[in-house]
Amino acid sequence: LMADSLYIINSFAREYFSNTLFNTEEGQNVGLSYFEERGFTQETIRKFQLGYSLNSWDAFTKTALSKGYNLEYLQKTGLVTVRNEQPGDNYRGRVIFPIHNQSGKVLGFGARILVKNDRAPKYINSPENEIYVKNRVLYGTYFARHAIDKLNECLLVEGYTDVISLHQAGIENVVASSGTSLTQHQLRLIKKYTNNLTILFDGDNAGIKAALRGLDMAIEEGLNVKLVLIPDKEDPDSYVQKIGADAFREFIASNKQDFVLFKLQISMQDAGNDSNRKSQLVNEIAETISKIDKTEDFTRQQDYIRQCSQVLKIDEQGLINLVNKFIR
Ligand code: UTP
Ligand code: MN
Ligand code: MN
Ligand code: MN
Ligand code: MN
Repeated sequence: LMADSLYIINSFAREYFSNTLFNTEEGQNVGLSYFEERGFTQETIRKFQLGYSLNSWDAFTKTALSKGYNLEYLQKTGLVTVRNEQPGDNYRGRVIFPIHNQSGKVLGFGARILVKNDRAPKYINSPENEIYVKNRVLYGTYFARHAIDKLNECLLVEGYTDVISLHQAGIENVVASSGTSLTQHQLRLIKKYTNNLTILFDGDNAGIKAALRGLDMAIEEGLNVKLVLIPDKEDPDSYVQKIGADAFREFIASNKQDFVLFKLQISMQDAGNDSNRKSQLVNEIAETISKIDKTEDFTRQQDYIRQCSQVLKIDEQGLINLVNKFIR
């Protein structure tokens, strides 16, 4: 089967890159030093099965072909590309982050350049294929699933290294959207483990916007969504490395805010004195509230109506009526 072949190749590649990281001079001097400079311990590097790809045209390709792996399948995984009829390595001189499915099989890879520049992308990710469908995957699910289940909460971050640094700090109920906005599939994946989603996003505008886009869908999926904004210029990885595990936990606990109320406050600030935009906003928030499943959580909807009418400075019964319009 095609899928099986791709899994087998990825498993071989994972092992190869890990071996390169630990057992070659370039791997140690370049890859391992890079991870160490970022504060990743050996234990963390082993747990996440991180690796390194040599700065070479075809070191991996040659090894893979000599072991009898099929060129067509190697290309499908994105590990090998053919240029001018010459097959060669796609990741060169990059550190490697394997992306696992829920049972620990490798679906693909993210490969990070060591020093950011304008000519090459920071991360090269596997292309979509029979086993890797981006919008169905959350990075870190395999490592986080038990902690999510136990704590009945899932933290969502943007990047691979955010997941890894939080794990190292003992915060294990965390997965990453890998820089894209959340999809229905990903929300359902989270719902298999918990109804409580806490989004930890960069405090910059892009981070906030990405977070807001996921809101209505998350509410529709019946998730209880909280938000923590990480201070400007930081992300969860840099911030936890900067302030330490305990301070980071405290930061999360004391900065968790309700997502619906957060969105409303932002929009109210945007609307200012514009009464048209304000009434549009009232409509939008009523629609959002209407999506909370009343049969599942009646008091939650009531709480929202009370709190939102206060923020909007409108009559509570008026908002109830509007919400009911959307339910019908
Ligand atoms: P970020 O730019 O925040 O990267 O993108 P990061 O995770 O903090 O990575 P470091 O700390 O610089 O190493 C968040 C996520 O978006 C995806 C990756 O999944 C990344 O982790 N991304 C970003 C890409 O796929 N390609 C890119 O070029 C950049
Ligand atoms: Mn369980
Ligand atoms: Mn960002
Ligand atoms: Mn980062
Ligand atoms: Mn980041």
